[in-house]
Amino acid sequence: MVIVGAQWGDEGKGKVTDLLAERADVVIRFQGGNNAGHTIIRDGETFKFHLIPSGILYPGKICAIGNGVVIDPGVLNGEIEGLRQRGIDVSGLRISANAHLIMPYHVLLDTAGELKLGKLEIGTTRRGIGPCYADKAARLGIRVQDLLDEKILRKKIMAAMEPKAQMLRPFAKDPMLDLHTMTEAYMTYGHRLEPYIADTARLCWDALDRGATVLFEGAQGTMLDLDHGTYPFVTSSNPVSGAACIGAGVGPADIDEVWGIAKAYATRVGAGPFPTELEDELGERLRERGGEVGTTTGRPRRCGWLDLVALRYAVRLNRMTSLVLTKLDVLSGINPLRLCVRYRHAEGAVFTEFPYHQSIIHSVEPEYLELPGFEGDIGGCRSEQDLPREARDYLSAISDHTGVPVVLAGVGPGRDQVCWIGETGALRPAA
Ligand code: IMP
Repeated sequence: MVIVGAQWGDEGKGKVTDLLAERADVVIRFQGGNNAGHTIIRDGETFKFHLIPSGILYPGKICAIGNGVVIDPGVLNGEIEGLRQRGIDVSGLRISANAHLIMPYHVLLDTAGELKLGKLEIGTTRRGIGPCYADKAARLGIRVQDLLDEKILRKKIMAAMEPKAQMLRPFAKDPMLDLHTMTEAYMTYGHRLEPYIADTARLCWDALDRGATVLFEGAQGTMLDLDHGTYPFVTSSNPVSGAACIGAGVGPADIDEVWGIAKAYATRVGAGPFPTELEDELGERLRERGGEVGTTTGRPRRCGWLDLVALRYAVRLNRMTSLVLTKLDVLSGINPLRLCVRYRHAEGAVFTEFPYHQSIIHSVEPEYLELPGFEGDIGGCRSEQDLPREARDYLSAISDHTGVPVVLAGVGPGRDQVCWIGETGALRPAA
């Protein structure tokens, strides 16, 4: 079962993974790195994760970081330590030996690249994600397994830094760029991570062969996909469901279900087109009510109406079987509610499908379907019947326009603040 973001990330995938992890045997992340951030509120306690799958809160649950993820070992060590200090059992953690490592020079190059772009910046999280994936493709990457052999590690760092010498010149005095210091620091990380390093693809195959449930946890969102998103304002990996196969090491036939997670409205951090953006009081209200500030960078998120043109595109790209709508409660008191059903271009062209041309996406005007809003606190609703009729109609309109059933709606930040919609039988993986 694959969980993907259906918008621009920050849809609340962590909460859904956490919920479904209870029934899964293995949870594995398949792309991205610590550009992601998941906040889980469990029994009033807040947990923030950037790399470790949210399922780790279930004692002993196998939670793997797949080969497709890029790992900053300092951040990962910090997360492991943080959980340990709070008494959380991390024995279920597994780290793919083939995952690539974010190195200090990747972080520096990410920031330098953004500064160089000036006004044209992508708005990256500056965590070194792009430069790390670039090195992976250039066959200059350092992998988790390299931490286990000092000689190889040193050689690979030298080879990776050599072509970057000119770009790294402004940082020549940074002590972390010293070959010896870097090798030592990464060997130390290696010693700490060694107990968790594993062949995570095999771990998935064994679980699948046993008929167990494997949950593939995506990061970011479809509209940030390197191939299918709003390039170049995208991340450097593929957050779509197909990438679960590559980033975890399974085949397409191993996937039974794809759940797309979308907010009841839309948000985006960083630059790039966002047709339904609200740059007015209502946008501000959504930002405030929804606590729309990035978990990773603390940046305020841009807010807008739910965009069904983009969502239909995401449904198809991921071949979604179910949709989850999070943060429905944030829309309470807003009347009317709007759903973008098509785009109109200045020259009169109408788009019901997501346009492939970037300049068009930048200049379209959204056209909306208006629906009556709902009032009051829906945080206590636990089933479809508990929800106000207008809220149910809103969810139905989304199902109707996307052709995918909404199976779950989030009504508050708490773990239990969800409403299952329709037949609960539909929740089980088809296998
Ligand atoms: P990068 O992934 O740090 O290279 O950033 C590229 C783009 O993806 C920027 O617009 C970021 O704001 C966005 N991005 C990366 N990770 C996330 C995420 O987890 N949530 C939302 N946006 C993200």
